[in-house]
Amino acid sequence: MSSLLPGALAFAGTILYAKYGALSSTFLPSRVVPVKTVDGKKHVIFVLGGPGAGKGTVCSRLCPSGDGDGDGDCRKGRGGLTVRSTHAFFSAGDLLRAERKRDSPCARVINDAISSGSFVPASITLGLIKSAFEGSGAGVFLLDGFPRNEDNVGAWEEGVGGGVVVDLVLFLECPEETMLGRIMDRGRTSGRNDDTLEVARKRFENFRRETMPIVNKYEKEGKVVRVRSDRPVDRVYDEVEEIVVKNMERVILA
Ligand code: ADP
Ligand code: C5P
Ligand code: MG
Repeated sequence: MSSLLPGALAFAGTILYAKYGALSSTFLPSRVVPVKTVDGKKHVIFVLGGPGAGKGTVCSRLCPSGDGDGDGDCRKGRGGLTVRSTHAFFSAGDLLRAERKRDSPCARVINDAISSGSFVPASITLGLIKSAFEGSGAGVFLLDGFPRNEDNVGAWEEGVGGGVVVDLVLFLECPEETMLGRIMDRGRTSGRNDDTLEVARKRFENFRRETMPIVNKYEKEGKVVRVRSDRPVDRVYDEVEEIVVKNMERVILA
């Protein structure tokens, strides 16, 4: 019986190929069928906001099967071998936290930056993001927490550029005292060594000094959509969902 499996997979692959075009190199192991977009390119929505603004909360709800660390697309159809992911969610912070757990040469650099509330060199962060994107068949990526400074923007422009279209920058606006309260609450269960008062203060400072100019830069390009996130989760989610779905309808071919 098991000897029939490779043949069956190849046959199904041929049918799917005929229906959807080129299959991604990850088709056989993950059975992901790439989704087609209007221009044949991958698209991204950058999701920015201060620490504790609620980025991870809304993104994971938009994408329940993806936990942001690079192994979960938001699968639309789970029938048989056909898995079409219109969108996928990746969090730069989650990708970095997953990488620092590995026995990787970068682990120490990542750990030092995260635990002190500073930024990891963009070459490391972008490398993880690119690998995550390449392993996904999704048409639109929700990318939480990137780009966060000039170094991130420069690496993106050089390493990805027009290869992935930046559709929108979704900016979650929230007063700092609300974000601080949320971080202190989250810190009781998150196990994150940067969810402390001292590191949170450093992260807010970096957010104001380094991330806000990036938001302002995209604002001048007309790409920023602001959503107030100091409101009940359901209200924030509904507004974000409408924005993301509208963008998806524009970009994804049925
Ligand atoms: P971020 O990813 O932007 O740092 P999170 O999504 O992890 O933020 O949210 C930080 C904390 O605040 C979490 O404990 C989360 O449950 C909580 N939270 C998120 N959004 C809201 C909201 N709209 N109202 C109240 N609490 C929220
Ligand atoms: O977004 P999140 O709060 O999960 O990020 C946690 C930490 O990961 C940041 O404070 C920073 O140290 C690191 N990070 C980074 N560059 C990014 C995103 C996150 O250095 N683009
Ligand atoms: Mg987060």
